[in-house]
Amino acid sequence: RSNPVLSDGTRISDLINLDTREVKMRVLSDAELYQLEMEKIFAKTWVFLAHETEIPNSGDFVQRDMGSDSVLVTRDREGQVHVVLNVCTHRGMKVSTLDVGNTQAHMCIYHGWAFKPNGDFIGAPVDKECMHGKMMSKEQLSLTKARVAVYGGMIFATWNLDGPSFDEFLGDAKFYYDTMWCRTTSGMEVLGPPQRFIIKANWKTAAEQGACDGYHTLTLHRWLGEIGPYAKKPNAEGGGADLTPEMYGVEVWTDHGHTMRCIDLGRKVHRITGRDPAELSAQEKLTVLPPPGLTAEMIPDVVSRLSPEQIEIMSSNPPQVGNFFPNGLFEFIYLPTADGKVTGAMALHTYVPMGPDKFMFMNWILAEKDTPPEQKAAMLRISCQFLGTSGMVEQDDSDTWPHQTIVSKGAMSKNITLKYQAKYETGKPDGWPGPGHVGSGFTKDDTNWSFWQYWHELMTRES
Ligand code: FES
Ligand code: FE
Repeated sequence: RSNPVLSDGTRISDLINLDTREVKMRVLSDAELYQLEMEKIFAKTWVFLAHETEIPNSGDFVQRDMGSDSVLVTRDREGQVHVVLNVCTHRGMKVSTLDVGNTQAHMCIYHGWAFKPNGDFIGAPVDKECMHGKMMSKEQLSLTKARVAVYGGMIFATWNLDGPSFDEFLGDAKFYYDTMWCRTTSGMEVLGPPQRFIIKANWKTAAEQGACDGYHTLTLHRWLGEIGPYAKKPNAEGGGADLTPEMYGVEVWTDHGHTMRCIDLGRKVHRITGRDPAELSAQEKLTVLPPPGLTAEMIPDVVSRLSPEQIEIMSSNPPQVGNFFPNGLFEFIYLPTADGKVTGAMALHTYVPMGPDKFMFMNWILAEKDTPPEQKAAMLRISCQFLGTSGMVEQDDSDTWPHQTIVSKGAMSKNITLKYQAKYETGKPDGWPGPGHVGSGFTKDDTNWSFWQYWHELMTRES
């Protein structure tokens, strides 16, 4: 394990206190740390880049950023997905300047060298035998290729060719994530291209919040209870203007910085059925209150694909918000509607670093391929109203991140610490069937803290 030293002599261990669970604010804007993060985190771990329904056909591609590196996410003639560095091996021009397109030969716009979707060098124009010289083989002139994993339709990649497998990276989170991403035979699709916004803030302000900060909802999103959807049915779910009851549930965190908040569906099921949820089977509960994106007709397929333990979680305490370390967030939101029903939205975000005090907020809106069209249209509308920085909820969030980043540059305030000292004192609830670290009751800081623990682990790992 290393303890990198910054140019002023500060070590990583001076910035984070693992005993008192504090992090110095300087980490939210320090340029040297940012470069270390690109090398030790974004070049080493698995990073979410795209959904495979964005590139359904042979030759389709999208341009994305993997940390500070531009990459092309492509599909070849055999249907295989590839991720290649979008840097020409000739003189370093971007091979493609397009955000999205279709081609079997990515031709660099500078001198015309061309590459297959898998990154293999095809050749150079004009004098095919000598304009790329005779000093290097064609294999040596291929684009740099990342290792790729497609999970539940999501495309992840890493430059760490010999590092942990994707399943190892997910670790204990996989048990829970399967209930969202791998629950139907047909799988999911994106409802259009991702929204993109530039936020003048450090990527970690959003990412550590995405590691399941439920607490801020009571204050920053207070309007949800006062004039928003939870105000429409005051007290019908024990909620109304006071959002405090919504803050109770089960939270899960893992050794790799993945976390989730699981909500208790018991009150909602009781309101719909008038029955004690304990009297209903897991399949009955899923049928009366299908998770966002599902219908009652889809439940038998879901039940056939997952273990009884996973179905138990899904029907009683499903993950509603969670993150993929380092910079991904997902939301499977159950929202009460004016007619007393519950509707849902599904979204996936990434907070793509663009420098120590800037990131791109990307927002994919999702549905199951089998979701009925009118339900897809409703999910798209609801997501746009609530999520992304065009949505009411995350406008609130994206107002805080730049303030934190600016404050972290102050001569005095850079040494103020972020605190994560609210700890779960209880372990897993009785009968909880899932793995990982689990706490129940009012939301705490353990999930956010696990983000920093794994940040620290990667930042101090020997290369
Ligand atoms: Fe790409 Fe010359 S830089 S062909
Ligand atoms: Fe929020």
